[in-house]
Amino acid sequence: MSQRVLTTESGAPVADNQNSATAGVGGPLLLQDQHLLEKLARFNRERIPERVVHARGSGAYGHFEVTDDVTGFTHADFLSETGKRTEVFLRFSTVADSLGGADAVRDPRGFAVKFYTGEGNYDLVGNNTPVFFIKDPVKFPDFIHSQKRDPFTGRQEPDNVWDFWAHSPEATHQVTWLMGDRGIPASYRHMNGYGSHTYQWTNSRGEAFFVKYHFKTNQGIRCLSSEHAAELAGKDPNSHQTDLLQAIERGVHPSWTLYVQLMPAAEAADYRFNPFDLTKVWPHADYPLKRVGRLVLDRNPDNVFAEVEQAAFSPNNFVPGIGPSPDKMLQGRLFAYADAHRYRLGVNHTQLAVNAPRATTAENYGRDGLMASNPQGRYAKNYEPNSYDGPVETGRPLSAPLAVTGHTGTHAAPLHTKDDDFFQAGELYRLMSAEERSRLVANIAGGLSQVSRDDVIEKNLAHFHAADPDYGRRVEEAVRALRED
Ligand code: HEM
Repeated sequence: MSQRVLTTESGAPVADNQNSATAGVGGPLLLQDQHLLEKLARFNRERIPERVVHARGSGAYGHFEVTDDVTGFTHADFLSETGKRTEVFLRFSTVADSLGGADAVRDPRGFAVKFYTGEGNYDLVGNNTPVFFIKDPVKFPDFIHSQKRDPFTGRQEPDNVWDFWAHSPEATHQVTWLMGDRGIPASYRHMNGYGSHTYQWTNSRGEAFFVKYHFKTNQGIRCLSSEHAAELAGKDPNSHQTDLLQAIERGVHPSWTLYVQLMPAAEAADYRFNPFDLTKVWPHADYPLKRVGRLVLDRNPDNVFAEVEQAAFSPNNFVPGIGPSPDKMLQGRLFAYADAHRYRLGVNHTQLAVNAPRATTAENYGRDGLMASNPQGRYAKNYEPNSYDGPVETGRPLSAPLAVTGHTGTHAAPLHTKDDDFFQAGELYRLMSAEERSRLVANIAGGLSQVSRDDVIEKNLAHFHAADPDYGRRVEEAVRALRED
């Protein structure tokens, strides 16, 4: 086989890749050295803006296979028959740290799935936690500012972290989750994924159901203690990436079983708490898990930058039969992601291989923009309607309409009979074993005791007291003991 030739980006052969061209031996460099200029200039442009959250991540391809009939609830084509397989790409991530942070940290994990369906790409952009810290998107930038590095100290600051939570009683449930054992998964393979939000499914008769997604790991849940994680984060900052990459390379393909909880749409208004509140789970006793299928990851990406860094998931990429609920957080996210992609990757990010539809083609009149490479051309018209056989609308909404009442305004969510911010945090605490509770209390106290202001500590303690008197008392004692040390 003949040796392949190194070329410039325009394909011309490169004569010397070790010595820059100089004016005479030992002289200054020449502007005419195209290879050197191109190499340095390209290098300067290798980085793009990192994701504002979930910057660190790992991805893999695989498939989703339907195992159970759900056609009574959704007419989504990729869920239309048992045995049906759909190609997927999944990106896992940590949330708060920037690129260069460590994987083994106490932080939620992202669990973003792109289903390349025959009716377009369906993105389910979830986390490894069934709930979230806040319930209104207007609080999201403040929340993230409080958890990421402080603009002056350049470090994550317990003062900021806990001050935000002091003002956000609705975070108590998720804080309890995060500070518990599941707050540090051992790897991406050993954790569940959740859609977290309530979404909407519509069946072929037009009947609507509200739905929550649960991907249960078939590897079993495994977590790290705070001490073990701190050690691992130092030894192998890429521990999650290493684990996923090597497992798939070894042929040990991780899988998750997808279950859903389904609520007939008519039951939402009278449910005892707001079913669109992202800080709450739906008890399984009310809405049991129904199995849907199995997701398997079996192929590593060839190029992490091209396929993982440039992957773009957006909660508003729905397919027929699936749509949004009135969950305010979800509604905010329907805007935020595609906007982030246009900033981070450009308007034509949907033409990148990892983001483009695979089982169908995109047919529309969007044109041009930076880095456009789509093939629509020649006599294809760039306006609609037209008389030239261009793609046309279907007239069929993707999902059922959502009922609305009342006036516009900055309203709190509609009140249901049991809508307080603490009872599910208390239920989660009471579900834990004695050892788990002790670790939870120690983790919270370890962070909260570092806060400099007493009023911030008091407000946080009040939340744990409201969740469960024993929980509050133990955290308070542990914080006091640490501060007296
Ligand atoms: C990433 C915004 C809440 C899961 C992102 C990104 C933005 C964002 C701007 C970066 C996107 C990119 O550059 O590609 C928001 C806003 C939220 C919110 C405004 C609340 C209003 C949530 C919630 C979840 C979640 C509740 C989980 C249920 C994720 C995941 C990623 C992400 C998994 C990484 C996606 C990937 O792997 O590319 N979020 N987010 N976010 N968010 Fe959110």
